Order: sequence, then C-alpha cells, then structure tokens
Amino acid sequence: MSLSTAATDATTTYNYTVVRQFSIMTVVWGFIGMLVGVILAAQMAFPELNFGPYFHFGRLRPLHTNAVIFAFGGSALMATSFYVVQRTCQARLAFEPLVKFVFWGWQAVIVAAVITLPLGLTSAKEYAELEWPIDILIALVWLSYLAVFVGTIMRRKMPHIYVGNWFYLAFIITVAVLHVVNSAAMPVTLFKSYSAYAGTTDAMIQWWYGHNAVGFFLTAGFLGMMYYYVPKQAERPIYSYRLSIVHFWALISVYMWAGGHHLHYTSLPDWAQNLGMVMSLVLLAPSWGGMINGMMTMSGAWHKLRTDPILRFLVVSLSFYGMATFEGPMMSIKTVNALSHNTDWTIGHVHAGALGWVAMISFGAIYHTIPRIYGQINMYSIPLINLHFWLATIGTVLYIAAMWVNGIAQGLMWRAVNTDGSLMYSFIQSVEVSWPGYIVRLIGGIIFLVGMGLMAYNVWMTIRNAKSVTDAPVTQPA
Ligand code: HEM
Ligand code: HEM
Repeated sequence: MSLSTAATDATTTYNYTVVRQFSIMTVVWGFIGMLVGVILAAQMAFPELNFGPYFHFGRLRPLHTNAVIFAFGGSALMATSFYVVQRTCQARLAFEPLVKFVFWGWQAVIVAAVITLPLGLTSAKEYAELEWPIDILIALVWLSYLAVFVGTIMRRKMPHIYVGNWFYLAFIITVAVLHVVNSAAMPVTLFKSYSAYAGTTDAMIQWWYGHNAVGFFLTAGFLGMMYYYVPKQAERPIYSYRLSIVHFWALISVYMWAGGHHLHYTSLPDWAQNLGMVMSLVLLAPSWGGMINGMMTMSGAWHKLRTDPILRFLVVSLSFYGMATFEGPMMSIKTVNALSHNTDWTIGHVHAGALGWVAMISFGAIYHTIPRIYGQINMYSIPLINLHFWLATIGTVLYIAAMWVNGIAQGLMWRAVNTDGSLMYSFIQSVEVSWPGYIVRLIGGIIFLVGMGLMAYNVWMTIRNAKSVTDAPVTQPA
C-alpha cells in the first residue's frame, strides 16, 4: 500500500491529514478503552480476576474512563470538528504547526495517562485524575485546539457560522475553562499535588467540572457532530435552523448550574443542591429540543433507514440521547436520587449516554468520514456496518437493562429496615443479588466490543484500498 498526501497548499486543499490521524486513533483508543471496560465488567462478576496492584479494579477504572472519554471521545471530536469546520467554512485549517501539536500533544497526554494511572499516580478527582505536569500539557494542547478552530472560522468564505461549529466552539472554550479551574493545585513533587480548594468547596468545584464535562465534552461537542452528520447522511436540511439557535443558547446557559445534583444529601448547602435539581429538570427542555431537531431532520428520509446502517447509527444515537437526558433529570430529583445514588442505576445511566449516544454517534460520523478522506465512495463493507449496528444496539440494551435491575434492587435493599429499625439486608446480600446483572452486563460489553473490532477491520480494509490519497480541493463559494 502506498499512501501519498498532496502538497499542503495553504489555500487550495483541505487539511485531511489530521482528520485521518484522529479518525484512526478514535478506532484504536475506542477498542482499547472498551477492552478495559470489559475487563472491569469481568472483575466485578469474578473478583478473583483482580491481580496485583497494577491490574486491580481501582487502578483500571480511571484508565477506562480516561481512555473512553478523552482518548476515544476526544479523538472522535477532534477528527470530526477539524473536518466539519473546514467543510462548512470552505477554508483550510489555520496554523499548520499548531494542528500537528494538537494531534501529537493529545496522543502524548493519553500515553501519559496509560502509564501513570495503573501506577496509582492520581489527583483523585474523578475524570480529572491526571497529575499536574500532564494537566499543563492538556491546557497547552487545548489552547492550541482553540486557536486552530477560531483561526479557521475567521478564514471562512461565507458570512454565517454553521450551527455545528457553534456547538464545537462552546465545547472547546468551556472545557478549557473547566480544566484550568478544577485542576488548580499545589505541586509537592513531580507526581503529587494537592487541590487548591478544600472540603466542600473542592467537592462543589469538582462536580461543577464533572457535570459540565458531561454537558460540554460528552454532549455539546457531540451535538456539533449531530448537526453536521445527520443532515449530510440523510441528505436533508436541518429541520429548524431557528430551533437550533434556541437549542444552543438554552443548553449552554442551563448546563452550568446543574452540577449540584451530584452532591445531594452532602454538606453542600441545601440551596445549592436544590438549584442543581431544578436546573437539571429545566435541562430536559433544551436536551429534547436538540433531539427533536435531529429526529425531525429525518422527515421525508425515514425510508433510508431500511438500507443505510450509518444513518441508523445516527438516529438510534439520538434516541439514546433522548433517553439518557430524560433519565438524568429524573435521577436529579432528590427523592429519586436517594434511591439511585451509589447504585448501578447511575452506571446504567452513564452507559446509556456513553454507549448509546456518544459511541454510536461517533461510529456513524467516522463511517461517514473515512471513505471521504481516503478517496473512496463507500466503506469496504456495508453489511459489516450493519452487523456492527446490531451488535452495538444489543450490547447497549443488555448493559443498561442489567444495571437498571441491579440499581433498583440495591437501592431498595439498602433502605429496607425491620420494625426495630435494624437493616433488613446485609451489604453482601445486595452484592449476591447483583451477580446475574453483572454477568448480563459482561455479555453486553463483550458484544459491544466485538462490534468495535468489526469496525476496526472495516476501517483498515477501507484504508488498504486507498492506493493514493490526495486532500480534496477547498470548495469555492458559488
Ligand atoms: C464495551 C464497552 C464498555 C464496557 C463493558 C464498560 C464497562 C464499565 C464498567 C464495568 C465500569 C465500572 C462500573 C462501576 O464502577 O461499577 C465503567 C465505568 C464507566 N464507564 Fe464504561 N464501559 C464501556 C464503554 C464505555 C464508553 C464508550 C464510555 C464513554 C464514552 C464509558 C464511560 C464510563 C464512565 C464515565 C464510567 C464511570 C461511571 C461512574 O463513575 O458513574 N464506558 N464502565
Ligand atoms: C439532561 C441531562 C442530564 C442530567 C440532568 C443528568 C443527571 C445525572 C444525575 C442526577 C446523575 C447521578 C448523580 C449521582 O447520584 O451521583 C448523573 C450521573 C452521570 N451522568 Fe448524567 N445526566 C444527564 C445526561 C447525561 C448524558 C447525556 C451523559 C453521557 C453522555 C451523562 C453522563 C453521566 C455520568 C458520567 C454520570 C456519573 C458521574 C459520576 O458519579 O461519576 N449524563 N447524571
């Protein structure tokens, strides 16, 4: 196979090199991150699989979350945002050296995570575990990403900025702010630091970060993806441009206030908990506004679902998005949270969003993009995409259904009391009841991972068929 890229002319071609690099790494990190997820699921069903300190659940769990969110999700977001911003602005990416730094810097961050997390080097803040030297690298990469994205928008050839780019930009700016504020720390050695905040303030800032990581990393960025790929793949204009603008402003202004729902019944002041609950309930409206806008784009194109598995990935991801964003507000109601908190219900909710929404929309977007950046008309095998679709859907449903059953059983057992006020069940009894659910989750996870393996094969074969690759010429305005 010989792959040659065209000369990087600053005006005449799009920069697809970085899109190719991030697309491939999406598949690579997706497989690795999900493999670690399957190992965790196996460890919860069979605790004897916890070996030594480095292969222990406690060390592998943050490795999984970092690998799937930042390595897999992050690479998918960077690949698609760099593709979408160029196509919709009809301009080549700005600041060539920074583009290279974004790719290699981000890979260095991930490799550093893969090394330090199993070694137990962690700041112990969920989704922000990496130690301070890596945090500094993340900040530099992220600011470069922002500069490239804004620089490209400024080069655009049309007056307006397509709404997909608004979502991507909100994601990039907000993640920069969240990361810098939440990671502020006092280093004591090269691998150890202490948070700049103490006690309840630390918890509040951590969950302001954590919830907005969900809101902006796992939601706003992927909505940017949705606004480009759903209309493109359905070959229909977006249902309502006006709704997309309302959706954008409502979503970004409400998300910021909802983080308190992670700290119900803690020492966080009651008013802050209640504010988190109310804002989470309000959040249902913009979330569903976006989902409806995506779904209604399918009007007149529903028949395409019969033959197009890429479109199926995109549409089913929207259904899971709708489901997770209905479930989330329900779980943020304090009385519901009293049952769901710390149970497997939360894990089910997370993966309804993570597998059903984040992973599925990324699969659809990458399947759409790969042939276009490798000079092909289609992916190597459409039947394999179809098989992947079914494996992903069945795997997700098994995973989340098992966790709902487990979560509700655990919540009810932990609160059941005898007439004399003593607990009706010991903790270990609730673990025994959960075992069948852990097995079902493991099976669901393996099925999901097999689908990911098929995708890797399909992508590899498509790339192999691309004998020589030239970057597409920049579209000239009509
Ligand atoms: C084959 C697919 C996957 C499997 C089998 C899997 C399995 C797991 C397991 C067993 C846990 C630990 C649960 C616990 O502590 O009780 C976990 C946690 C988590 N996973 Fe996955 N996972 C998969 C894919 C993903 C993906 C694609 C994402 C994100 C895009 C994701 C995000 C998370 C998050 C955020 C947590 C932490 C949840 C929390 O703290 O509430 N997972 N996963
Ligand atoms: C309207 C939107 C949403 C609301 C109001 C919401 C609300 C909630 C609530 C109440 C919890 C449980 C907190 C606890 O008891 O500790 C939670 C946990 C979580 N949600 Fe959501 N959710 C929403 C959407 C999503 C989506 C779309 C995703 C993923 C793509 C997601 C990912 C997560 C994660 C990762 C956690 C676990 C955090 C942790 O404890 O580690 N959420 N969410």
